Amino acid sequence: MSLLKPREVLRITGLRVHYPTDKGIVRAVRGVDLTVHEGEIVGLVGESGCGKSATLLATMRLLPYPGRIAGGRVILNGQDILSLSDADMRSLRGSVMSMVFQDPMSTLNPAHKIGAQIKEALAVHGKWNYRDRKSGREALAALLAEVGIPSPETVIDQYPHQLSGGMQQRVMIAIALACRPALILADEPTTALDVTIEAQILDLLRKINKENGTAIVLVTHNLAVASQFCHRIAVMYAGQIVEEGPVREVLSAPLHPYTQGLLECIPKFDKSIRLNPIPGHVPDLIGQKTGCSFYGRCEHKTRGCLDPNRQELLPVGGGRGVRCWRWTSVVAREGTGEEEEQELAVDSDRD
Ligand SMILES: Nc1ncnc2c1ncn2[C@@H]1O[C@H](COP(=O)(O)OP(=O)(O)O)[C@@H](O)[C@H]1O
Ligand SMILES: [Mg+2]
Repeated sequence: MSLLKPREVLRITGLRVHYPTDKGIVRAVRGVDLTVHEGEIVGLVGESGCGKSATLLATMRLLPYPGRIAGGRVILNGQDILSLSDADMRSLRGSVMSMVFQDPMSTLNPAHKIGAQIKEALAVHGKWNYRDRKSGREALAALLAEVGIPSPETVIDQYPHQLSGGMQQRVMIAIALACRPALILADEPTTALDVTIEAQILDLLRKINKENGTAIVLVTHNLAVASQFCHRIAVMYAGQIVEEGPVREVLSAPLHPYTQGLLECIPKFDKSIRLNPIPGHVPDLIGQKTGCSFYGRCEHKTRGCLDPNRQELLPVGGGRGVRCWRWTSVVAREGTGEEEEQELAVDSDRD
């Protein structure tokens, strides 16, 4: 094992995203910090409407109007991308960092053949330099074969609608991969697919990660997917990361009541275990909020949870962090593991 610390590919700090609407400003992302290292797969999980897509779109500087980045920094390979010109940003998208969306048809052009679309992705970044048609086709076919597309020679000349959803998603991944980016942002890339195809697409992403060291941020609302696929996860709630850490530790001993609630929502094979959905719903994100964003749904809430000075993500050791002030005493005590376990047992007792 290498003793060198893995290189940081992405560092997001204090990211805020606003969507101005008739009803007020939707504060979709409220101070997100996220770091991703070379070779790492980081899962961004949470219920719908928590700001996961807004975080990725802001990172790509692709927020749809009227969305805007209201604060924070996005450092990609050491470069602050929020200060780049639009032209520099365009040349960076697709070459250093690519995004794969949930619905391939929202990105693929229905009127153009698959081969032409991949060629264009390469050409934009000056990576298409095949004078002779034959070796150009070979390069396209090799890329399609790399993402597991059978008969790539045929697919080059097909239109998107002639492919299944899984194959379209593979094409999207081929386009994302074409320029060998350091980072792929994948926003629920398998949600529209059935489970067998989902597993194949996730295997493909994992292969790309292993073979090229490509860092991946995977947005998913599926904790089972996150647990199998990611090295680390960040749990998002109401525009904030409420818990993060190595995936196994977070999912086997969640510290935040929201993460605990999400885990209780997962269907089990054993029917005797009742599903226990988190009561209530994600608060609307319009206007300024103070206090813990999970307060309204939390079983452990106390008045202290509304204190605006108690809203930091607390580091709790082992690369983990939790945005729940009840852990302050554990952190401050820096006690023995025994004490921490006792505290955990008390805190996670939901009955
Ligand atoms: N174009 C938009 N205009 C106004 N609000 C939006 C827009 N897009 C997203 N939002 C709001 O931003 C919040 C975060 O949305 P999103 O990032 O899509 O969440 P997620 O991906 O976690 O489901 C939600 O409250 C959503 O309603
Ligand atoms: Mg989304």
